[in-house]
Amino acid sequence: MRIIEKTIEMQSFMTQLKYSEKSIGFVPTMGYLHEGHLSLLQRAKAENDIVVLSIFVNPLQFGANEDLSTYPRDFNRDEKLAQEAGVDIIFYPSVEEMYPKSSSIELNVTKRVNVLCGKSRPGHFNGVVTVLTKLFNLVLPTRAYFGMKDAQQVAVVEGLVEDFNFPIEIVRCPIIRESDGLAKSSRNVHLTVSEREEAVIIYKSLMDGKIALEDKKMDIEQVKLQITNTITKNSSGTIDYVEILSYPMLETVQNVKETMIIAVAVRFSKVRLIDNMLINI
Ligand code: PAJ
Repeated sequence: MRIIEKTIEMQSFMTQLKYSEKSIGFVPTMGYLHEGHLSLLQRAKAENDIVVLSIFVNPLQFGANEDLSTYPRDFNRDEKLAQEAGVDIIFYPSVEEMYPKSSSIELNVTKRVNVLCGKSRPGHFNGVVTVLTKLFNLVLPTRAYFGMKDAQQVAVVEGLVEDFNFPIEIVRCPIIRESDGLAKSSRNVHLTVSEREEAVIIYKSLMDGKIALEDKKMDIEQVKLQITNTITKNSSGTIDYVEILSYPMLETVQNVKETMIIAVAVRFSKVRLIDNMLINI
């Protein structure tokens, strides 16, 4: 396994691989790897000749009051896990390497962004598409793997690839959960013991909502209210949003339609958790 820290080295190395007609599977992450990330790596390994993992906590996608400084990091542990997962190349740049000078062009996401995390975290997705544009140009992937844990990110990245004609296939991967249903996240380590126990209610309320919608037992507003009440009653968390939208366009839906998403964000004392489920009618 090769670890590359410099952008120039990364691009020239990947260019050689590209010309030797190897397929390249890319998994962009911010590190502190867990089974969610590892599932993406496994899929990339199964479908490509070469697997590239990037580890970069991207300051551009964090707001001023967000958790950039406390975002968990452990490169040595990540390196071991990546080795075991069969990663060929880890791209591990510093902030100075990725952003050596102030930018002369800024990307601004205009669709699928005024809802959910885009609404709660202004500028977040501009930061995500900026770093991904750079990473795509450095890694030159055939396929890039994204988890549905961040379903809005998947939708926005699909828009990026379509709008700018990146010759990359975006692969949607399912959410990996703890045995009690909590979606795996690097941020879960910041939950207190009691919050960790309470957090399972997010999954349970989403499941109940999904079943109620699929069985046409409740309408959209009733399901949103039920999820809000269940989480509020059974946890110390405060609701950031509970939304039911079309997917992947993320538009408001009056009536139940084909593919929708129920998406939730809940703030606990030190961490904000997100989760979602797709509804197929
Ligand atoms: P990060 O939060 O590290 O996540 C990296 C990838 O792992 C994302 O595609 C995310 O959806 C996926 N992932 C996280 N938890 C998952 C789970 N429980 N099940 C399945 N997949 C999961 O998302 C980012 O980093 C950044 O925004 C990034 C794309 C790297 C740009 O900076």
